[in-house]
Amino acid sequence: MAPEAVGANTLGAVDVASETALEVIRTRIPGKINLTLGVGPLGADGYHPLVTAFQAVSVYDEVTAAWAPEGVTELQTVGREAHLVDDDHRNLAWRAAELLRSHCGVNHGVRLHVAKDIPVAGGMAGGSADAAGALLACSVLWDLDLDPSELRELGAELGADVPFGLTGGTAVGTGRGDEVVPALTRGTCHWVLAFSSEGLSTPRVFARHDELRPDPPPPTLPPELLAGLGTGRAADVAPHLFNDLAEAACSLRPDLADTIALAPRVGALTAVLCGSGPTVAFLVADEASAVDVHLALKAELGAEAHLRRVHGPVPGARLVHPA
Ligand code: C5P
Repeated sequence: MAPEAVGANTLGAVDVASETALEVIRTRIPGKINLTLGVGPLGADGYHPLVTAFQAVSVYDEVTAAWAPEGVTELQTVGREAHLVDDDHRNLAWRAAELLRSHCGVNHGVRLHVAKDIPVAGGMAGGSADAAGALLACSVLWDLDLDPSELRELGAELGADVPFGLTGGTAVGTGRGDEVVPALTRGTCHWVLAFSSEGLSTPRVFARHDELRPDPPPPTLPPELLAGLGTGRAADVAPHLFNDLAEAACSLRPDLADTIALAPRVGALTAVLCGSGPTVAFLVADEASAVDVHLALKAELGAEAHLRRVHGPVPGARLVHPA
């Protein structure tokens, strides 16, 4: 479809009824929890070798792509934390569109619209989710015929968590976290997330980790975790959760240690930091106890605490039919 034919369809003031599959492409991308996060020594490339078990959970950003004039990139982010996001070339969704253009040798225009629900700088890979959504949405809008592995490779150029945003589910990540292998799991994990009103900078947390643990052993994945995920019982998963960045994040934000320590008191099986934080994920026994834990956390943290019940695993970036 020629870009000119649909250029009048403006996002931001979308006329939903006039959308067709080729004029506007919507994608939905989940946030992630790290069930385990093992961090090795800082490499010469400025990255740390990781071994992590990701789980995609049911908090989503939605990225929509519509035609714009040749060469043009426009971006608008909406949502509670939209003011924390740069709607320009610094945004990973914007850079995803530019990367696709140069990789495929096209100069198509795009108007991107991001509805953010994943916390900004929360350790749940929200920026990476937007990159994954933009890659998928633009590749379909522009009819670029890229296969999923090519998209994942492009995603890894944008950020270590982007390939997992495309894959979703439960998966083991190695390398920088960008080499992703899906894991077989049974059942559903139920979580209560405690968001933070202030984000944490990922490079800052890694730098603090280097100060605290200058010579860490090579990271590994406990085999008991995969065995636990195979039983479908949260109680078999809970004892094996850990995050090597937790100590660094808690030294920068001591309140996080207090939040994590609430797990037994509020009836959760355990609590783990998401990525570099500051989001804390409480693993609960089942959906019913998620309601109780949510209420107990509200009582502990105060009525203004931002909590959310989610479940995982859920799929990675997917096309969504226009409503
Ligand atoms: O890949 P991404 O841009 O998301 O990474 C953000 C920052 O997190 C990097 O610049 C680096 O400081 C840190 N990081 C790291 N090792 C990794 C992944 C991220 O040190 N494996």
